[in-house]
Amino acid sequence: MTQYETILLDRKGRTGLITLNRPKALNALNLRVMEEVIDAATTLDRDPDVGCIVVTGSERAFAAGADIKEMQPNDYMDVYLADWFSAWDRLGEVRKPTVAAVAGYALGGGCELAMLCDVLIAADTAVFGQPEIKLGVIPGIGGSQRLTRAVGKAKAMELCLTGRTMDAAEAERAGLVSRIVPAADLLSEALALAETIANMSTPIAMMVKESVNRAFETTLAEGVRFERRVFHATFATADQKEGMAAFTEKRPPSFVNR
Ligand code: CAA
Repeated sequence: MTQYETILLDRKGRTGLITLNRPKALNALNLRVMEEVIDAATTLDRDPDVGCIVVTGSERAFAAGADIKEMQPNDYMDVYLADWFSAWDRLGEVRKPTVAAVAGYALGGGCELAMLCDVLIAADTAVFGQPEIKLGVIPGIGGSQRLTRAVGKAKAMELCLTGRTMDAAEAERAGLVSRIVPAADLLSEALALAETIANMSTPIAMMVKESVNRAFETTLAEGVRFERRVFHATFATADQKEGMAAFTEKRPPSFVNR
């Protein structure tokens, strides 16, 4: 597999594992991290032997935000012309399901990276926040939009306007996080969750992802119509035949990912 400088890339069964690896900077997201995460995620997305992708950090920090030291010397024209940080959008365009496994700090761009993933599971040590306002900037990787959709206007406004952080319990209550696990179990729980997803029919899981994501992009009527068309399309797959035959024959399905 490709050797990266700021991340580790691994495979566990049908799960691809991307681990942010800038421990001295609390996994601050510089441009190199962005390029490497996108490259790894794109590679895993194309790999027919991968059905789900996990993104994680360290015990202390998932990621403490965009790299402030890298951003500091730039002016408006620098960031406008380079279109900082639009390349992160490509992570949201990955077609296979993605899981963020968050321990420690997930601040600013770190929180935004976690929210770019489809399922967010948190260690009991996780700390979420959008503290950009304290630096004289605002979220730049979708935080003001995705946090608001996840936790509602009042809490998103409060967090973005004050920079206050929330712990894992508050994040779960607010709907940002699907589940909290003990820190020591985070990776094994995330990998088990990912492997469950990865062992479903991958094209069907991709259709689920596309359909759920429609809910954030369209009206209810259009979303329901989209879902119905995709539901009809599942009947053109070998895995629908296999899944329903296996149920009828009282055996586990053996999906062929077609
Ligand atoms: N960028 C660059 N370096 C960072 C960093 C960041 N976002 N966060 C931490 N670091 C570095 C620190 O500078 C420090 O490096 P040195 O040892 O060279 O000084 C190292 O990581 C360890 O950090 P601390 O000594 O600060 O550790 P701490 O335990 O005392 O505090 C913390 C931890 C509360 C997370 C603190 O580091 C912090 O507040 N970090 C910044 C958080 C932040 O503001 N994030 C938002 C960034 S802006 C953004 O993300 C924009 C966007 O939306 C795109």
